[in-house]
Amino acid sequence: MKSTASSPGKVILFGEHFVVYGVRAILCAIDKRITATSRLIDERKIRILSSIGTAEMDLARDSPQGIQPGFMAPFLHIAQEVLKEYNEERGIEVVLESEIPAGVGLGSSSAACVAAAASATGLYERKSKEEILRKALEAERKIFEDASGADSSISAFGGLMAYSKDRQERIEFKGDLSLIIANSRQVHSTRELVMKVREFKSKNEKLFGDLCSTEGTLVDDALKALGRNDLRALGQLMSKNQEMLERIGVSTKVLNDLVREADKISYGSKMTGAGGGGCIIALVDRTNAATTLEHMKKLGDCFTAKIDFEGLSYL
Ligand code: PMV
Repeated sequence: MKSTASSPGKVILFGEHFVVYGVRAILCAIDKRITATSRLIDERKIRILSSIGTAEMDLARDSPQGIQPGFMAPFLHIAQEVLKEYNEERGIEVVLESEIPAGVGLGSSSAACVAAAASATGLYERKSKEEILRKALEAERKIFEDASGADSSISAFGGLMAYSKDRQERIEFKGDLSLIIANSRQVHSTRELVMKVREFKSKNEKLFGDLCSTEGTLVDDALKALGRNDLRALGQLMSKNQEMLERIGVSTKVLNDLVREADKISYGSKMTGAGGGGCIIALVDRTNAATTLEHMKKLGDCFTAKIDFEGLSYL
């Protein structure tokens, strides 16, 4: 018997980095997914297979602490916990298939944790999104202890979300919003970029405080623009957010160049996520999606994404 579940990636529409200092961020699930398929196997092993790597753990031999840190560790942890929870004597194989480019801030590892937790648990029973999210997040935090939980929440529930450290609120939005996502192909480290901003803050306390309050207003305005389905205003706010990210030093020349080009046709654009590489997003609708995509394709890797309203789903 097999159990398959899939979960979407995400982009940050507004507020990355400033969210670390208490400002709200706006996240959006995108219609690019990770699918996990689990099956029980006769060997006492956990096997994780994916296009970007594989991992195997011998259950007969390894101690529970035997999971080596690394990007496969959360999946081994999830599988191990599920086998324990259901007193399973056999082993398990989890196959991950992804439409989300890895390591460029599109939430692929959180989506994989949510899909893996749902598919492995689904071999026994279907649990609620809340319960699957708890499992996925616990595994993520075992490895990346400061994971905020935002990526896994948006992946489990889909849609749009206003997120701050102590509060997550679903944003009701039913408009026609599409994004062109262009990949700089520069890999980034979220941790290093967060440190870089901390250093910027410590050298520019007053300026950083002012930038945080400007960003807070910008996020409030973005929520209002979403409420009115006003893409023109939303796009302009995205461009303003890009200026803020450039000021704190997390954008790069490649990202800036992609943004300048995207701004020629789309409603507005910005880098998304930690920066130092990764992706930019450009806001479009059906009137300018094709022209923006065609234009951006001349510069590199890009694709169109829509909002995913479903979140975690079982196949
Ligand atoms: O590139 P990502 O998706 O890992 O973005 C990280 C978002 C930050 O605000 C930079 C960090 C955080 O924990 O919120």
